[in-house]
Amino acid sequence: MADPTAPYPDRSAVEEAFAAHVNRGKVDAYRALGLELVMGERDGIRFRDAYDGTWYVNCHCNGGVFNLGHRHPAVVAAVRDALEALDVGNHHLVSGWRARLAERLSATTGGVLPGVVFGVGGGEAIDLAIKVARAHTGRAGVVSVTGGYHGHTGLALAAGDPAYRDPFGPNPPGFTQVVFDDLDAMAAAVDERTAVVLVEPIPATLGMPIPSPGYLAGLRTLCDERGALLAFDEVQTGLGRTGTVWYHVQEGVTPDLLVTGKGLSGGVYPITATLMTAELHRFFDDHPFVHVSTFGGAELGCVAGLATLDVVEAPGFLDRVVELGERFESELADMPFQLRRRGMFMGLAFDDPAGGMTATQALVSAGVFAIFANNDPSVLQFLPPLTIADDEVDDLIATLRRVLGS
Ligand SMILES: Cc1ncc(COP(=O)(O)O)c(C=O)c1O
Repeated sequence: MADPTAPYPDRSAVEEAFAAHVNRGKVDAYRALGLELVMGERDGIRFRDAYDGTWYVNCHCNGGVFNLGHRHPAVVAAVRDALEALDVGNHHLVSGWRARLAERLSATTGGVLPGVVFGVGGGEAIDLAIKVARAHTGRAGVVSVTGGYHGHTGLALAAGDPAYRDPFGPNPPGFTQVVFDDLDAMAAAVDERTAVVLVEPIPATLGMPIPSPGYLAGLRTLCDERGALLAFDEVQTGLGRTGTVWYHVQEGVTPDLLVTGKGLSGGVYPITATLMTAELHRFFDDHPFVHVSTFGGAELGCVAGLATLDVVEAPGFLDRVVELGERFESELADMPFQLRRRGMFMGLAFDDPAGGMTATQALVSAGVFAIFANNDPSVLQFLPPLTIADDEVDDLIATLRRVLGS
């Protein structure tokens, strides 16, 4: 069996090799924070440090990559089986696996967003959403939210926070950011030059602020009035995390474009997708080879995505997410933080501006891995695997109460 630690005998050896060839700053930063973890064995809701053997409950879940926990048996079995016959496939050709996953994704929207373009990463899928919006409207403007995060690629990066893009030269023209949950600010920014309004319905990196009632519907109205398209980035909020397959249905708002990633991989094989209306999708009728991605929609990834959807759409799965979310809320009600929550998409908001960071360290010491929101360190992002069992919830809540209780 593959040993994830090989060939390094100890933590300092792997850290040195990582620092020399991958990213020294990352090693230094985690040392300074006392978060020197090397992922070793992983199983269900937990992973183990490769060197000291400590098990951690994964409540970071890579923003949803591990929504189904680590190595979910159904996903692993499907991909293992597929490896007997499949590989990445050829993106130039027609593929039954891509077609089948696209059909299933379309069905999750009730067929409202039937067009699907696959990618490898979320940034790439966001880029495509912006490209299609620009091509369709003939406009260049992209309005997004200050402190949001949409990925590290060109257009996604341009729509994100300056901290991630400033070192890389001037931003391309056409990108504007406004404060989240402020319809007046959005109304002032969206005009006849706007191709698309791009938002995470609940921005994760910004600390999971829950939109005010009517905010997302207000965006829809504004876009309709001004001829702009509406794109939701559900890379983190999607695929069951909030108790419905997509969060936007809880708000009764349908976007023109929808981006998914992370969890679609089942944590096993990378795959992302941009869903769009039939009208937008028609662009590819005339431009079938204009957007190509060698590994986008790799057939092994499609298998992982199909297995993931099977789990998420199985009877009772989403009901349980709803029930567990409510349980976390009621059992943590008296804790010294505000719980920002939809389903099991949770942020623990502390009064202390560094409260999320302090909680990160305290919880890691107690065997719970969760990380503060990068653009608001007062908030701890808290994303337990959706597959967590009742007794594991008991233990997790007890740990939170012991470690974070005042
Ligand atoms: C909301 C959101 N959108 C897009 C992305 C980009 O995804 P990727 O890292 O796969 O490019 C991320 C990644 O963290 C994200 O959280």
